[in-house]
Amino acid sequence: MNSTMSSFVFLSSLALFLTLQPCLISASPNVVTQNYTPSLVSNACERSTHKEFCLSVLNSNPFSQQSSLQQLAFIALNVTSKNATATSEFIKQLANQISIDSELEPYLQQSLTECSEAYQSVVELIDDSINSFFSQSEVGVESYLKAAIATIDTCDASIKAHIGKALEVSHKNHIVRQLCNNALSVYRVFANN
Ligand SMILES: *[C@@H]1O[C@H](CO)[C@@H](O)[C@H](O)[C@H]1NC(C)=O
Ligand SMILES: *[C@@H]1O[C@H](CO)[C@@H](O)[C@H](O)[C@H]1NC(C)=O
Repeated sequence: MNSTMSSFVFLSSLALFLTLQPCLISASPNVVTQNYTPSLVSNACERSTHKEFCLSVLNSNPFSQQSSLQQLAFIALNVTSKNATATSEFIKQLANQISIDSELEPYLQQSLTECSEAYQSVVELIDDSINSFFSQSEVGVESYLKAAIATIDTCDASIKAHIGKALEVSHKNHIVRQLCNNALSVYRVFANN
């Protein structure tokens, strides 16, 4: 929803409210001046190529409904960092498990080690992007996120030759990549506002 539409909806609800609640209004005039701010979540997702995904990511945070575009951009980055960290842990554990029965897939161990190393960088790059966000470096936020995406792709290239458990890594790569792209698009809405 753009801001014109939001204010339209806001004014329409206000008009309806005023029509339906004359007694309440005269009894407590303050009720009209309470700051009701329409949620900015849909504005924040307007540049996203996967709007549903964007909306579900932002709406899963309880603070989103009251958040500014800047806070929403932070939430999108924060979720990405958390998810990448969890994925990094997952890959590390998988690499340890696989070493026990590595005869099944001789190069899987090597791919997982590569992914594990790649994900240490992915987590760092996302955190660098968050630091750039706080130091208001637009170029920093964007270039670190793009570097994180490229690093996820190096893991993906090495893991996708495998089957079984390795497919889970590929699936998680897909999610973290989507979260990075999402953070990028939400950040751009904030930065260009
Ligand atoms: C950011 O992430 C941390 C750790 O995952 C969490 O505790 C915190 O509530 C998050 N902040 C926001 C504003 O989402
Ligand atoms: C990562 O994101 C996916 C998709 O939103 C979600 O299903 C999963 O629970 C997340 N994992 C963590 C650890 O945040």
